[in-house]
Amino acid sequence: MTDFVPVTATPISDDASTLTILKAAMRNPVEMWSDYFYREHTATRKILGQRVHTTTDPDIMQAVFQTHFDIFPKSDLEQVVLERATGHGLLTAQGAEWRTQRRATSPIFRHKNLTALAPLMVAAGATAGDRLAGARGEVDVMPVMADATLKVIAGTLLSGDGDDFDFATMSKMVDISLAHFGKVDVFDFFKSTRRMPRPWGKAGREAVAWMQQAAADVIDGRRLSEDQAQDLLALLMAARHPDSGEGLTDAQVRDNIVTFIGAGYETTSMALTWTLYLLANHPEWQDTLAEERAAVLGGGPVTPDHLEALEKHAMVVQEAMRLYPPAPSLDRVALEDVTIGDLEVKAGDVVVLAIYPMQRHTRLWDRPERFDPMRFTPDQVAARHRFQYVPFSAGTRVCIGWKFAMMEAVAILAGALDRVTLAPTDFTPYPRVRITLRPVGGMKLAVRPRASQN
Ligand code: HEM
Repeated sequence: MTDFVPVTATPISDDASTLTILKAAMRNPVEMWSDYFYREHTATRKILGQRVHTTTDPDIMQAVFQTHFDIFPKSDLEQVVLERATGHGLLTAQGAEWRTQRRATSPIFRHKNLTALAPLMVAAGATAGDRLAGARGEVDVMPVMADATLKVIAGTLLSGDGDDFDFATMSKMVDISLAHFGKVDVFDFFKSTRRMPRPWGKAGREAVAWMQQAAADVIDGRRLSEDQAQDLLALLMAARHPDSGEGLTDAQVRDNIVTFIGAGYETTSMALTWTLYLLANHPEWQDTLAEERAAVLGGGPVTPDHLEALEKHAMVVQEAMRLYPPAPSLDRVALEDVTIGDLEVKAGDVVVLAIYPMQRHTRLWDRPERFDPMRFTPDQVAARHRFQYVPFSAGTRVCIGWKFAMMEAVAILAGALDRVTLAPTDFTPYPRVRITLRPVGGMKLAVRPRASQN
């Protein structure tokens, strides 16, 4: 095991003023949690008249995500930020509308459907590996991972339209919309100005409009087509609430295409990008994964049938998401007064579920700064609090795509590592939140084709 310490965000000080906190929230929310949250659990503060409880306590996470789920919807701020980027799909729906959409769309992510999507994931891994092997030298692996995960999500959503679909523009539009809408500005802090139209951010609004139009065109095309593709779009269009038989409107299908791309592409690509960074600095883990592939694949290429057996590959991705959770925090608002342990929450209070510091908490994890995938053996997982590791959120509204994402991440990781080895360069990444946790300046790693190592 090397002494390498994974890069972390520089937090503000424990006694920072409200102004400093607000500036950090606008600049880079991951800097907003002072050291206090890495050694203690909860603090309550009034910020611009709003009572805010920030927590890294797994019991409070459980209460908010699960036990008291019905009285903790998303905060207005989180809602507005996500709506700007994805419209009115499953990610932003609330209350009864969310329940209907969730029950209608859940069957899409059943094991049988996911297994059918695995070949595309494996192909994306092979392409990413070939691209890395062809590039050699110092390579920014972030766009390679982004292209791989976009291919998977767009390909599985819209397989029947894959040849006509403009992947390059879609990728550019997602980037533009995240750059514009992935951070809050000063008007977002006040409820009265939060939904106010702004003269700036036009490029971001146009990017989202482009994505919605592209999605609407695909739906129209599908209605006219004889060809009945079996992809996520077909499943979305056919989705029905099991009791009421109610389906999704065209606008809901359209916004869910944008949502699935928005929620599924960037998150998985960031998980993989940080995974490659950690592996580049831990050659012993590259060797362990190579041994696992040799045992599971028996010298052949990665195939869909192998994915479940590549357990250590999954553990490495899980540990990377502990250190770099793609969604580093979530906000909820209390609809009623409730007491959770010692914490008294009043109706209207905001609870910030600070996932990033919780997953590096000194009292919850042994040597939290150390990259150690063995934390994810079944025994170790069973021995700790279920809600101290929640990169996919947890409880009632857990990420609907988490099994999809894990299968995809393993397929792409195995495909890439089968072809290349990685080493660090002089470049040091820095984590910054733009809805997801991205490395500033990309992720430049030294890449060598694996065959030339032998
Ligand atoms: C490593 C990859 C991923 C991570 C870390 C991740 C994380 C999350 C998190 C934290 C949430 C909760 C958001 C909130 O409560 O505000 C969420 C929700 C969601 N995710 Fe993922 N996600 C990933 C991949 C995916 C994929 C691949 C898809 C689709 C194929 C997807 C679709 C969604 C949707 C639709 C929701 C909203 C679910 C609901 O509210 O009922 N995600 N995800």
